Amino acid sequence: MSDMYRPYAKLIPIVILGKRFEVPEGNLLLRQMQFAAPDIGFGRYCWNAECRYCEISYRARPEGPEVNGLACAVTGQPGMCVTKAAAEIRYNMADALAAAPAAEK
Ligand code: FES
Repeated sequence: MSDMYRPYAKLIPIVILGKRFEVPEGNLLLRQMQFAAPDIGFGRYCWNAECRYCEISYRARPEGPEVNGLACAVTGQPGMCVTKAAAEIRYNMADALAAAPAAEK
């Protein structure tokens, strides 16, 4: 386990732009995205809620309301669904998104 991640005991399922990923529990969503897509590490992210390159819209629960947020400021929870993501995230996750299985409807 890399020091990049907060200690975690297991991976949790989340949905990002219609694709299913398993990511380390208890970590910031942007870090979880980096686990799924290492190219996030090459992005221009400030990691402290200033640059807004990590803007997202998401539902914390599948049936919950869609809200806007920053992937560097929220912790991904099981069942979270990211419905929109800034261009920087979509660019860095393009390969991972193409390879990941589609989420069940
Ligand atoms: S990484 Fe800069 S605002 Fe989230």
